[in-house]
Amino acid sequence: MTARLIKGTEIREEILAELRAETEELKAKYGRVPGLVTILIGENPASVSYVTLKIKTAQSLGYKEIQDNRDPDISEAELLDLIDRYNKDDSINGILVQLPLPKHIDEAKVINAIDPDKDVDGFHPVNIGRLMLGGDEVKFPPCTPAAIQEMIIRSGVETSGAEVVVVGRSNIVGKPIANMLLQKGAGANATVTIVHTGTKDLASHCLRADILIVAAGVPGLVKPEWIKPGACVIDVGVNRIGEKVSSKTGKTIAVLSGDVDFEPACERAGWITPVPGGVGPMTITMLMKNTMKSFKSSLGIK
Ligand code: GUN
Repeated sequence: MTARLIKGTEIREEILAELRAETEELKAKYGRVPGLVTILIGENPASVSYVTLKIKTAQSLGYKEIQDNRDPDISEAELLDLIDRYNKDDSINGILVQLPLPKHIDEAKVINAIDPDKDVDGFHPVNIGRLMLGGDEVKFPPCTPAAIQEMIIRSGVETSGAEVVVVGRSNIVGKPIANMLLQKGAGANATVTIVHTGTKDLASHCLRADILIVAAGVPGLVKPEWIKPGACVIDVGVNRIGEKVSSKTGKTIAVLSGDVDFEPACERAGWITPVPGGVGPMTITMLMKNTMKSFKSSLGIK
């Protein structure tokens, strides 16, 4: 068997086109567009590059975008004041504070300071609680798990009654995606197992999975023989395993690998996400979707 590729780059374009059309329609009707602020503290190169992509994507959709960059010596109190200002600004529907923060700032305090109804990252404890409750309670699913669920749904893979195994129990991927897929309703209703570093026999659990979601951050952790023939494999790992010179730009770029041994896995899986080009390109798209959801909620529409 050769697995069908679930291409994040293609699904992203479909969703962005939907959001672009919706932005135009709502602008014509209400004279307003979704507003997103990105708060970046310091110049961590990875953070700068993520935030730049978020800003460019928001702009390409016609959103109002505020780029609020601050010096790394900003005090915690100043940052909390800044967040409070955006909490009260009606033109802003989404507040994103890029993580990690400098060591002198308490990350939990900052996340807690964001209005849960503008927390488009879905990191606030209120939104994590809403996610656990499921159904209409869910406001902002965190972006990576939302991307995974969207990719499964848009590929036509059946989740209802499926055995899902999630490898990894992080707060931003493993725990939320497990919760989302076990809820009642479309794109969920699965039987979910989370396996982790304390699990005795990873292979036997993985082999049961109709849908195998791997978010461990360990290159090549999942061996091809651990994949049930025909399974859907979602590889969330983005591991830098080297560098190469880009043939397009001539610049040195990272060589990325997932948590699954990709080539041989393609011979067993029914569907698989590549790395790069799989889950990665979808996460910012889901941030834009959450921002649209927040905007519509501020307009009192669904
Ligand atoms: N840093 C790395 N990923 C993320 C993300 O999804 N959101 C925020 N706020 N910071 C990050």
